[in-house]
Amino acid sequence: MDIFRIQGGNRLSGSVKISGSKNGALPVLFASLLCDGPVELRNVPTELRDIKTTLKILETLGARSEVGEYGSVNIQIQDVSSTCADYELVSAMRASICCLGPLLARRGEARVSLPGGCSIGDRPVELHTRGMEALGAEVSIENGYVVARAAQLKGSTVYLSGPMGSTVLGTQNVMMAAVGAEGETVIEGAACEPEVQATAGFLRAMGVAVEGDGTPVIRIEGRGRLDQGGGLGGGSFGIPPDRIETGTYLLAGAIAGDKVTIEGCNPSENLALLDLLNRIGVSVEVGTSTMTVQGVESVAPVDISMLPYPAFPTDLQGPLMALLCLGRGVSIITDKVFPDRFNHLSELRRFGARVRKEGPTAIIEGGAPLSGAKVMASDLRASACLVLAGLVADGMTEVYRIYHLDRGYERMEEKLRKLGAEVERLSEKELEQDREMELAQG
Ligand code: EPZ
Repeated sequence: MDIFRIQGGNRLSGSVKISGSKNGALPVLFASLLCDGPVELRNVPTELRDIKTTLKILETLGARSEVGEYGSVNIQIQDVSSTCADYELVSAMRASICCLGPLLARRGEARVSLPGGCSIGDRPVELHTRGMEALGAEVSIENGYVVARAAQLKGSTVYLSGPMGSTVLGTQNVMMAAVGAEGETVIEGAACEPEVQATAGFLRAMGVAVEGDGTPVIRIEGRGRLDQGGGLGGGSFGIPPDRIETGTYLLAGAIAGDKVTIEGCNPSENLALLDLLNRIGVSVEVGTSTMTVQGVESVAPVDISMLPYPAFPTDLQGPLMALLCLGRGVSIITDKVFPDRFNHLSELRRFGARVRKEGPTAIIEGGAPLSGAKVMASDLRASACLVLAGLVADGMTEVYRIYHLDRGYERMEEKLRKLGAEVERLSEKELEQDREMELAQG
Protein backbone atom coordinates (compact mmCIF):
# COMPACT_ATOMS: atom_id res chain seq x y z
CA MET A 1 0.00 0.00 0.00
CA ASP A 2 1.60 3.25 -1.16
CA ILE A 3 2.16 6.32 0.94
CA PHE A 4 2.48 10.00 0.04
CA ARG A 5 5.25 11.87 1.86
CA ILE A 6 4.72 15.61 1.69
CA GLN A 7 7.09 18.34 2.85
CA GLY A 8 4.67 21.16 3.60
CA GLY A 9 5.19 24.84 2.98
CA ASN A 10 6.21 25.05 -0.70
CA ARG A 11 4.20 27.66 -2.59
CA LEU A 12 2.69 26.22 -5.79
CA SER A 13 2.91 27.90 -9.17
CA GLY A 14 2.48 26.99 -12.82
CA SER A 15 -0.21 24.99 -14.56
CA VAL A 16 -1.96 21.67 -14.16
CA LYS A 17 -3.88 19.79 -16.86
CA ILE A 18 -7.20 18.22 -15.86
CA SER A 19 -7.95 14.59 -16.79
CA GLY A 20 -11.17 13.18 -18.18
CA SER A 21 -14.01 12.83 -15.68
CA LYS A 22 -13.96 9.61 -13.65
CA ASN A 23 -17.66 9.75 -12.83
CA GLY A 24 -18.43 10.77 -16.41
CA ALA A 25 -16.44 7.87 -17.84
CA LEU A 26 -17.63 5.00 -15.61
CA PRO A 27 -21.31 4.85 -16.70
CA VAL A 28 -20.27 5.51 -20.31
CA LEU A 29 -17.98 2.46 -20.18
CA PHE A 30 -20.91 0.39 -18.88
CA ALA A 31 -23.16 1.87 -21.59
CA SER A 32 -20.88 0.30 -24.20
CA LEU A 33 -22.61 -2.99 -23.24
CA LEU A 34 -25.59 -1.68 -25.24
CA CYS A 35 -23.55 -1.68 -28.46
CA ASP A 36 -22.80 -4.36 -31.03
CA GLY A 37 -20.53 -2.11 -33.13
CA PRO A 38 -17.12 -0.81 -32.04
CA VAL A 39 -17.02 1.97 -29.45
CA GLU A 40 -14.18 4.48 -29.44
CA LEU A 41 -13.81 6.62 -26.31
CA ARG A 42 -11.38 9.51 -25.92
CA ASN A 43 -10.04 11.34 -22.86
CA VAL A 44 -10.77 8.44 -20.49
CA PRO A 45 -8.67 8.71 -17.29
CA THR A 46 -7.22 5.25 -17.95
CA GLU A 47 -4.72 5.32 -15.09
CA LEU A 48 -7.42 5.43 -12.42
CA ARG A 49 -8.04 2.28 -10.45
CA ASP A 50 -11.84 2.54 -10.90
CA ILE A 51 -11.43 2.65 -14.68
CA LYS A 52 -9.18 -0.43 -14.60
CA THR A 53 -11.73 -2.25 -12.42
CA THR A 54 -14.51 -1.31 -14.85
CA LEU A 55 -12.58 -2.67 -17.83
CA LYS A 56 -12.11 -5.94 -15.89
CA ILE A 57 -15.86 -6.15 -15.19
CA LEU A 58 -16.61 -5.46 -18.86
CA GLU A 59 -14.23 -8.26 -19.82
CA THR A 60 -16.16 -10.72 -17.63
CA LEU A 61 -19.28 -9.54 -19.48
CA GLY A 62 -17.86 -10.32 -22.92
CA ALA A 63 -16.27 -6.97 -23.89
CA ARG A 64 -12.77 -6.79 -25.34
CA SER A 65 -11.09 -3.45 -24.67
CA GLU A 66 -7.85 -1.86 -25.83
CA VAL A 67 -6.34 1.08 -24.01
CA GLY A 68 -4.32 3.39 -26.26
CA GLU A 69 -2.53 6.71 -25.84
CA TYR A 70 -4.08 9.94 -24.53
CA GLY A 71 -6.97 8.21 -22.82
CA SER A 72 -8.30 6.35 -25.84
CA VAL A 73 -10.22 3.15 -25.14
CA ASN A 74 -11.66 0.94 -27.89
CA ILE A 75 -14.34 -1.52 -26.89
CA GLN A 76 -15.87 -4.35 -28.87
CA ILE A 77 -18.54 -6.64 -27.47
CA GLN A 78 -17.69 -10.20 -28.47
CA ASP A 79 -20.00 -12.32 -26.37
CA VAL A 80 -23.42 -11.40 -24.99
CA SER A 81 -24.06 -14.58 -23.01
CA SER A 82 -22.91 -13.46 -19.54
CA THR A 83 -25.40 -11.57 -17.40
CA CYS A 84 -23.63 -11.79 -14.05
CA ALA A 85 -21.37 -9.17 -12.39
CA ASP A 86 -19.54 -10.91 -9.54
CA TYR A 87 -19.13 -9.79 -5.93
CA GLU A 88 -15.30 -9.73 -6.10
CA LEU A 89 -15.23 -6.94 -8.69
CA VAL A 90 -18.45 -5.13 -7.80
CA SER A 91 -17.50 -4.84 -4.13
CA ALA A 92 -14.38 -2.90 -5.19
CA MET A 93 -16.44 -0.14 -6.75
CA ARG A 94 -20.06 0.91 -6.26
CA ALA A 95 -20.42 2.38 -9.76
CA SER A 96 -20.51 -1.19 -11.08
CA ILE A 97 -24.21 -1.26 -10.18
CA CYS A 98 -24.42 0.60 -13.50
CA CYS A 99 -24.18 -2.61 -15.49
CA LEU A 100 -27.73 -3.44 -14.30
CA GLY A 101 -29.46 -1.17 -16.84
CA PRO A 102 -27.47 -2.08 -19.96
CA LEU A 103 -27.47 -5.83 -19.21
CA LEU A 104 -31.22 -5.79 -18.74
CA ALA A 105 -31.74 -3.80 -21.96
CA ARG A 106 -29.37 -5.81 -24.14
CA ARG A 107 -29.51 -9.29 -22.60
CA GLY A 108 -32.95 -9.37 -20.95
CA GLU A 109 -31.47 -10.37 -17.60
CA ALA A 110 -28.93 -9.10 -15.06
CA ARG A 111 -27.41 -10.53 -11.88
CA VAL A 112 -25.36 -7.82 -10.21
CA SER A 113 -23.83 -8.17 -6.78
CA LEU A 114 -25.19 -5.61 -4.31
CA PRO A 115 -22.26 -3.28 -3.70
CA GLY A 116 -22.56 -3.40 0.10
CA GLY A 117 -21.37 -0.89 2.71
CA CYS A 118 -19.24 2.14 2.04
CA SER A 119 -17.01 4.31 4.18
CA ILE A 120 -18.83 7.52 3.20
CA GLY A 121 -22.11 6.25 4.68
CA ASP A 122 -25.18 4.26 3.70
CA ARG A 123 -25.61 3.99 -0.06
CA PRO A 124 -28.81 2.14 -0.93
CA VAL A 125 -29.77 1.29 -4.52
CA GLU A 126 -33.56 0.99 -4.18
CA LEU A 127 -34.08 3.95 -6.54
CA HIS A 128 -32.16 2.03 -9.24
CA THR A 129 -34.27 -1.10 -8.74
CA ARG A 130 -37.55 0.85 -8.51
CA GLY A 131 -36.61 2.48 -11.81
CA MET A 132 -36.08 -0.92 -13.47
CA GLU A 133 -39.43 -2.12 -12.08
CA ALA A 134 -41.17 0.95 -13.49
CA LEU A 135 -39.89 -0.16 -16.91
CA GLY A 136 -41.48 -3.56 -16.41
CA ALA A 137 -38.56 -5.60 -15.03
CA GLU A 138 -39.04 -8.17 -12.28
CA VAL A 139 -36.46 -7.43 -9.61
CA SER A 140 -35.49 -9.45 -6.56
CA ILE A 141 -32.59 -9.69 -4.14
CA GLU A 142 -31.13 -13.22 -4.13
CA ASN A 143 -28.05 -14.26 -2.16
CA GLY A 144 -26.64 -10.73 -2.11
CA TYR A 145 -27.34 -10.12 -5.81
CA VAL A 146 -29.83 -7.83 -7.53
CA VAL A 147 -31.53 -10.11 -10.03
CA ALA A 148 -33.55 -8.40 -12.75
CA ARG A 149 -35.42 -9.95 -15.69
CA ALA A 150 -37.59 -8.54 -18.43
CA ALA A 151 -38.82 -10.28 -21.57
CA GLN A 152 -39.43 -6.78 -22.91
CA LEU A 153 -38.93 -3.46 -21.13
CA LYS A 154 -41.67 -0.91 -21.68
CA GLY A 155 -41.17 2.85 -21.76
CA SER A 156 -42.82 4.56 -18.82
CA THR A 157 -42.66 7.52 -16.44
CA VAL A 158 -40.04 6.85 -13.78
CA TYR A 159 -39.76 9.02 -10.67
CA LEU A 160 -36.23 9.00 -9.26
CA SER A 161 -36.16 11.41 -6.35
CA GLY A 162 -35.52 9.83 -2.93
CA PRO A 163 -35.08 10.98 0.67
CA MET A 164 -31.79 12.74 -0.17
CA GLY A 165 -32.82 14.10 -3.58
CA SER A 166 -32.22 12.39 -6.89
CA THR A 167 -29.63 9.74 -7.65
CA VAL A 168 -26.81 10.30 -10.12
CA LEU A 169 -25.90 6.68 -10.92
CA GLY A 170 -29.58 5.67 -10.62
CA THR A 171 -30.53 8.22 -13.30
CA GLN A 172 -27.75 6.93 -15.57
CA ASN A 173 -28.73 3.31 -14.93
CA VAL A 174 -32.38 3.90 -15.82
CA MET A 175 -31.40 5.92 -18.92
CA MET A 176 -29.36 2.94 -20.15
CA ALA A 177 -32.18 0.47 -19.45
CA ALA A 178 -34.67 2.76 -21.22
CA VAL A 179 -32.71 2.41 -24.48
CA GLY A 180 -33.96 -1.18 -24.70
CA ALA A 181 -37.57 -0.32 -23.83
CA GLU A 182 -40.45 -0.10 -26.29
CA GLY A 183 -41.58 3.53 -26.57
CA GLU A 184 -40.64 6.66 -24.65
CA THR A 185 -39.35 6.77 -21.08
CA VAL A 186 -39.68 9.98 -19.08
CA ILE A 187 -37.46 10.24 -16.02
CA GLU A 188 -38.91 12.73 -13.52
CA GLY A 189 -36.79 13.90 -10.60
CA ALA A 190 -33.66 13.07 -12.61
CA ALA A 191 -30.22 14.09 -11.35
CA CYS A 192 -28.92 17.21 -13.14
CA GLU A 193 -25.18 16.53 -12.65
CA PRO A 194 -22.90 17.07 -15.69
CA GLU A 195 -21.98 13.35 -15.51
CA VAL A 196 -25.61 12.54 -16.45
CA GLN A 197 -25.15 14.79 -19.47
CA ALA A 198 -22.03 12.77 -20.38
CA THR A 199 -24.10 9.56 -20.40
CA ALA A 200 -26.77 11.30 -22.50
CA GLY A 201 -24.07 12.61 -24.86
CA PHE A 202 -22.69 9.10 -25.32
CA LEU A 203 -26.15 7.65 -26.02
CA ARG A 204 -26.82 10.40 -28.57
CA ALA A 205 -23.45 9.66 -30.21
CA MET A 206 -24.67 6.05 -30.52
CA GLY A 207 -27.83 7.27 -32.28
CA VAL A 208 -30.31 7.23 -29.37
CA ALA A 209 -32.77 10.14 -29.03
CA VAL A 210 -32.28 11.65 -25.53
CA GLU A 211 -33.56 15.07 -24.43
CA GLY A 212 -33.64 17.11 -21.25
CA ASP A 213 -30.40 15.92 -19.61
CA GLY A 214 -29.13 18.64 -17.28
CA THR A 215 -32.75 19.21 -16.15
CA PRO A 216 -34.95 17.12 -13.79
CA VAL A 217 -36.97 15.69 -16.72
CA ILE A 218 -35.17 13.44 -19.20
CA ARG A 219 -36.84 11.79 -22.20
CA ILE A 220 -35.41 8.74 -23.95
CA GLU A 221 -36.83 7.18 -27.07
CA GLY A 222 -36.46 3.43 -26.57
CA ARG A 223 -35.19 1.20 -29.37
CA GLY A 224 -37.11 -1.88 -28.19
CA ARG A 225 -35.88 -5.49 -28.19
CA LEU A 226 -32.09 -4.96 -28.04
CA ASP A 227 -31.89 -8.47 -26.61
CA GLN A 228 -32.95 -9.93 -29.96
CA GLY A 229 -29.57 -9.17 -31.53
CA GLY A 230 -30.19 -5.51 -32.17
CA GLY A 231 -27.52 -3.75 -30.12
CA LEU A 232 -26.55 -0.15 -30.92
CA GLY A 233 -24.18 0.42 -33.82
CA GLY A 234 -21.27 1.90 -31.88
CA GLY A 235 -19.45 5.19 -32.47
CA SER A 236 -17.06 7.66 -30.93
CA PHE A 237 -17.33 9.90 -27.85
CA GLY A 238 -15.01 12.17 -25.83
CA ILE A 239 -15.22 12.18 -22.01
CA PRO A 240 -15.50 15.76 -20.62
CA PRO A 241 -12.98 17.10 -18.07
CA ASP A 242 -13.29 16.09 -14.41
CA ARG A 243 -15.05 18.88 -12.47
CA ILE A 244 -14.10 17.37 -9.10
CA GLU A 245 -10.41 17.11 -9.99
CA THR A 246 -10.71 20.70 -11.28
CA GLY A 247 -12.20 21.82 -7.96
CA THR A 248 -9.56 19.96 -5.97
CA TYR A 249 -6.70 21.76 -7.79
CA LEU A 250 -8.51 25.11 -7.45
CA LEU A 251 -8.65 24.50 -3.70
CA ALA A 252 -5.00 23.33 -3.65
CA GLY A 253 -4.09 26.58 -5.42
CA ALA A 254 -6.06 28.62 -2.89
CA ILE A 255 -4.41 26.83 0.03
CA ALA A 256 -0.82 26.65 -1.14
CA GLY A 257 -0.55 28.57 -4.39
CA ASP A 258 1.25 31.68 -5.51
CA LYS A 259 -0.57 31.50 -8.82
CA VAL A 260 -1.90 28.21 -10.21
CA THR A 261 -3.58 27.78 -13.61
CA ILE A 262 -5.96 24.88 -14.15
CA GLU A 263 -6.03 23.95 -17.83
CA GLY A 264 -8.48 21.94 -19.93
CA CYS A 265 -11.39 22.39 -17.52
CA ASN A 266 -14.99 23.52 -17.87
CA PRO A 267 -15.42 26.50 -15.49
CA SER A 268 -19.20 26.62 -15.94
CA GLU A 269 -19.45 23.28 -14.05
CA ASN A 270 -17.73 24.77 -10.98
CA LEU A 271 -19.89 27.87 -10.44
CA ALA A 272 -20.83 26.98 -6.83
CA LEU A 273 -17.15 26.65 -5.92
CA LEU A 274 -16.23 29.85 -7.79
CA ASP A 275 -18.99 31.74 -5.97
CA LEU A 276 -17.81 30.42 -2.61
CA LEU A 277 -14.15 31.26 -3.31
CA ASN A 278 -15.20 34.79 -4.26
CA ARG A 279 -17.19 35.13 -1.00
CA ILE A 280 -14.30 34.02 1.19
CA GLY A 281 -11.73 36.21 -0.50
CA VAL A 282 -9.95 33.93 -3.00
CA SER A 283 -9.43 35.50 -6.40
CA VAL A 284 -9.89 33.36 -9.53
CA GLU A 285 -9.47 34.53 -13.10
CA VAL A 286 -11.85 32.53 -15.32
CA GLY A 287 -11.17 31.83 -19.02
CA THR A 288 -13.00 29.59 -21.50
CA SER A 289 -11.23 26.39 -20.46
CA THR A 290 -8.78 27.69 -17.86
CA MET A 291 -8.94 29.11 -14.34
CA THR A 292 -6.11 30.86 -12.51
CA VAL A 293 -6.26 30.98 -8.75
CA GLN A 294 -4.20 33.15 -6.44
CA GLY A 295 -3.23 31.60 -3.10
CA VAL A 296 -4.23 33.22 0.20
CA GLU A 297 -2.89 33.30 3.77
CA SER A 298 -6.36 33.06 5.27
CA VAL A 299 -10.02 33.12 4.22
CA ALA A 300 -13.27 34.56 5.59
CA PRO A 301 -15.36 31.96 7.46
CA VAL A 302 -18.46 30.59 5.77
CA ASP A 303 -21.63 28.54 6.38
CA ILE A 304 -22.30 26.22 3.44
CA SER A 305 -24.31 23.08 2.57
CA MET A 306 -23.39 20.30 0.16
CA LEU A 307 -26.38 19.67 -2.13
CA PRO A 308 -27.04 18.18 -5.58
CA TYR A 309 -25.79 20.05 -8.67
CA PRO A 310 -25.64 22.97 -9.36
CA ALA A 311 -25.06 23.56 -5.62
CA PHE A 312 -21.75 22.85 -3.90
CA PRO A 313 -20.75 19.19 -4.56
CA THR A 314 -20.35 16.70 -1.72
CA ASP A 315 -17.25 15.37 -3.51
CA LEU A 316 -15.45 18.67 -2.74
CA GLN A 317 -16.56 18.80 0.91
CA GLY A 318 -13.31 17.25 2.19
CA PRO A 319 -10.93 19.37 0.08
CA LEU A 320 -12.94 22.50 1.04
CA MET A 321 -12.56 21.66 4.72
CA ALA A 322 -8.77 21.76 4.34
CA LEU A 323 -9.07 25.35 3.02
CA LEU A 324 -11.50 26.42 5.75
CA CYS A 325 -8.89 25.40 8.35
CA LEU A 326 -7.21 28.66 7.20
CA GLY A 327 -10.39 30.60 8.08
CA ARG A 328 -10.42 33.75 10.21
CA GLY A 329 -13.25 32.41 12.38
CA VAL A 330 -15.75 29.57 12.60
CA SER A 331 -16.96 27.89 9.40
CA ILE A 332 -19.85 25.45 9.12
CA ILE A 333 -20.20 22.71 6.49
CA THR A 334 -23.38 20.60 6.28
CA ASP A 335 -23.38 17.61 3.94
CA LYS A 336 -26.99 17.04 2.88
CA VAL A 337 -26.08 14.38 0.30
CA PHE A 338 -23.90 12.08 2.43
CA PRO A 339 -24.43 13.22 6.07
CA ASP A 340 -21.78 10.79 7.39
CA ARG A 341 -19.03 11.69 4.93
CA PHE A 342 -16.66 13.09 7.56
CA ASN A 343 -13.92 10.43 7.90
CA HIS A 344 -11.25 13.06 7.26
CA LEU A 345 -12.29 15.08 10.30
CA SER A 346 -10.49 13.07 12.97
CA GLU A 347 -7.40 12.85 10.73
CA LEU A 348 -7.43 16.64 10.24
CA ARG A 349 -7.24 16.96 14.02
CA ARG A 350 -3.87 15.18 13.86
CA PHE A 351 -2.59 18.23 11.93
CA GLY A 352 -3.79 20.41 14.81
CA ALA A 353 -6.98 21.54 13.07
CA ARG A 354 -9.87 22.48 15.39
CA VAL A 355 -12.76 20.59 13.82
CA ARG A 356 -15.74 18.71 15.19
CA LYS A 357 -18.89 17.04 13.92
CA GLU A 358 -22.45 17.59 15.04
CA GLY A 359 -24.84 15.35 13.05
CA PRO A 360 -24.45 16.09 9.33
CA THR A 361 -22.48 19.25 10.13
CA ALA A 362 -18.79 19.94 10.62
CA ILE A 363 -17.67 22.96 12.61
CA ILE A 364 -14.25 24.31 11.73
CA GLU A 365 -12.53 26.84 13.95
CA GLY A 366 -10.09 28.34 11.49
CA GLY A 367 -6.66 29.69 12.19
CA ALA A 368 -5.11 26.88 14.26
CA PRO A 369 -1.55 26.29 13.05
CA LEU A 370 -1.27 23.04 11.07
CA SER A 371 1.77 20.82 11.55
CA GLY A 372 2.73 17.74 9.51
CA ALA A 373 1.45 14.38 10.77
CA LYS A 374 1.00 10.73 9.89
CA VAL A 375 -2.58 10.36 8.71
CA MET A 376 -4.75 7.61 7.25
CA ALA A 377 -6.78 8.06 4.08
CA SER A 378 -10.18 6.38 4.37
CA ASP A 379 -11.89 7.19 1.09
CA LEU A 380 -11.17 8.97 -2.14
CA ARG A 381 -12.11 12.58 -1.36
CA ALA A 382 -11.01 12.33 2.29
CA SER A 383 -7.56 11.45 0.90
CA ALA A 384 -7.55 14.61 -1.21
CA CYS A 385 -8.44 16.65 1.90
CA LEU A 386 -5.45 15.22 3.78
CA VAL A 387 -3.05 15.81 0.88
CA LEU A 388 -4.18 19.46 0.64
CA ALA A 389 -3.71 19.93 4.38
CA GLY A 390 -0.24 18.36 4.08
CA LEU A 391 0.74 20.93 1.43
CA VAL A 392 0.28 23.79 3.86
CA ALA A 393 1.17 22.08 7.17
CA ASP A 394 4.48 22.87 8.77
CA GLY A 395 6.95 19.97 8.33
CA MET A 396 6.50 16.44 7.05
CA THR A 397 3.19 14.65 6.44
CA GLU A 398 2.75 10.99 5.57
CA VAL A 399 -0.62 10.00 4.08
CA TYR A 400 -1.20 6.25 4.32
CA ARG A 401 -3.52 4.11 2.12
CA ILE A 402 -3.09 6.27 -0.95
CA TYR A 403 -4.82 3.56 -3.00
CA HIS A 404 -8.06 5.38 -2.19
CA LEU A 405 -6.69 8.48 -3.94
CA ASP A 406 -5.61 6.40 -6.95
CA ARG A 407 -9.27 5.54 -7.57
CA GLY A 408 -10.02 9.10 -8.65
CA TYR A 409 -6.95 11.31 -9.17
CA GLU A 410 -4.54 10.50 -12.01
CA ARG A 411 -0.85 10.86 -11.04
CA MET A 412 -1.64 13.40 -8.33
CA GLU A 413 1.91 13.40 -6.98
CA GLU A 414 3.32 14.20 -10.45
CA LYS A 415 0.78 16.95 -11.06
CA LEU A 416 1.51 18.52 -7.65
CA ARG A 417 5.29 18.18 -8.12
CA LYS A 418 5.01 20.00 -11.47
CA LEU A 419 3.44 22.86 -9.49
CA GLY A 420 6.41 22.89 -7.12
CA ALA A 421 5.09 20.77 -4.25
CA GLU A 422 7.42 18.35 -2.51
CA VAL A 423 5.39 15.13 -2.73
CA GLU A 424 6.78 11.65 -3.18
CA ARG A 425 5.08 8.29 -3.51
CA LEU A 426 6.69 5.51 -1.49
CA SER A 427 5.82 1.88 -1.14
CA GLU A 428 5.66 0.69 2.47
CA LYS A 429 8.91 -1.17 1.82
CA GLU A 430 10.65 2.01 0.61
CA LEU A 431 9.39 3.87 3.66
CA GLU A 432 10.72 1.10 5.90
CA GLN A 433 14.13 1.24 4.15
CA ASP A 434 14.23 5.02 4.61
CA ARG A 435 13.50 4.62 8.31
CA GLU A 436 16.23 1.99 8.73
CA MET A 437 18.70 4.29 6.96
CA GLU A 438 17.76 7.22 9.23
CA LEU A 439 18.24 4.99 12.29
CA ALA A 440 21.61 3.76 11.01
CA GLN A 441 22.72 7.37 10.49
CA GLY A 442 21.78 8.08 14.09
C1 EPZ B 1 -22.41 9.55 -7.44
O1 EPZ B 1 -22.70 8.48 -6.54
C2 EPZ B 1 -20.89 9.67 -7.47
N1 EPZ B 1 -20.30 8.41 -7.89
C3 EPZ B 1 -20.36 10.06 -6.09
O2 EPZ B 1 -18.97 10.29 -6.19
C4 EPZ B 1 -21.04 11.37 -5.66
O3 EPZ B 1 -20.62 11.70 -4.36
C5 EPZ B 1 -22.56 11.21 -5.69
O4 EPZ B 1 -22.99 10.77 -7.01
C6 EPZ B 1 -23.32 12.48 -5.35
O5 EPZ B 1 -22.97 13.48 -6.26
C7 EPZ B 1 -20.19 8.11 -9.18
O6 EPZ B 1 -20.64 8.82 -10.04
C8 EPZ B 1 -19.45 6.88 -9.52
P1 EPZ B 1 -26.42 9.18 -5.47
P2 EPZ B 1 -24.18 7.89 -6.47
O7 EPZ B 1 -27.18 7.94 -5.84
O8 EPZ B 1 -24.83 8.07 -7.79
C9 EPZ B 1 -29.21 8.49 -1.71
C10 EPZ B 1 -16.70 9.98 -5.71
O9 EPZ B 1 -16.03 10.31 -4.69
N2 EPZ B 1 -29.76 7.34 -2.45
O10 EPZ B 1 -26.65 10.40 -6.30
O11 EPZ B 1 -24.08 6.52 -5.94
C11 EPZ B 1 -27.77 8.29 -1.33
O12 EPZ B 1 -27.63 7.53 -0.16
C12 EPZ B 1 -18.07 9.37 -5.54
O13 EPZ B 1 -16.28 10.10 -6.87
C13 EPZ B 1 -30.89 6.71 -1.98
O14 EPZ B 1 -31.47 7.08 -0.93
O15 EPZ B 1 -24.86 8.84 -5.44
C14 EPZ B 1 -27.30 9.72 -1.17
O16 EPZ B 1 -27.68 10.21 0.08
C15 EPZ B 1 -18.38 9.07 -4.12
N3 EPZ B 1 -31.37 5.62 -2.66
C16 EPZ B 1 -28.08 10.47 -2.26
O17 EPZ B 1 -29.21 9.61 -2.56
C17 EPZ B 1 -30.78 5.17 -3.83
O18 EPZ B 1 -31.26 4.20 -4.41
C18 EPZ B 1 -27.32 10.72 -3.54
O19 EPZ B 1 -26.68 9.52 -3.96
C19 EPZ B 1 -29.63 5.84 -4.30
C20 EPZ B 1 -29.16 6.92 -3.59
